[in-house]
Amino acid sequence: MLATGLYAIIVTDFSSVRRRGLTGTVEGFKRRTRRAITSQRQPTVTVLSCLLAAQDELGYLPDEAIEEIATYTGTTTNEVWGVASFYTNFRFTPPGEHAVEICWGPTCHLAGAPGILQSVLDLLGLSGEGETSDNRISLKYNTCLGACSQAPVASIDHQLVGRLSIETARGLVGKLKAPDATR
Ligand code: FES
Repeated sequence: MLATGLYAIIVTDFSSVRRRGLTGTVEGFKRRTRRAITSQRQPTVTVLSCLLAAQDELGYLPDEAIEEIATYTGTTTNEVWGVASFYTNFRFTPPGEHAVEICWGPTCHLAGAPGILQSVLDLLGLSGEGETSDNRISLKYNTCLGACSQAPVASIDHQLVGRLSIETARGLVGKLKAPDATR
């Protein structure tokens, strides 16, 4: 959906992104990891592609996923950790229930991102990227969400929102803090 107006606008709707459970048993993690890495369609399967598939399925990379990938690719867990820890996009702890990404790339920066970011940090009681104390919201910075023409931009639960103001950002993030906010 793309619209213009006085208020923040939805730039891209990713609401069809599949919602996934973020917790599970050891066996559940192993089974889901195995299913994710054996379902890859590309001709070349690598440790990296397996890590991506596992994180896409689980939301993060628990120990069980690392072990399963090592077994499947015939490498060691140390080697898998080595690849995973090289890339900053992999995470090893469960993300919050809701995902908020604030773009602080050059275009968004000039359009007011610093004020929005500080306001959201204050609202969430955070001093930087990470999870709120109740693990309800994960906040990440992004160097470009790919919608510079709509700057400043944020992603709220995988939905891009552009032409943000501080008030709109606080309103959207504030809703996620409510106990009945759903994914
Ligand atoms: S710099 Fe923010 S969307 Fe590109």
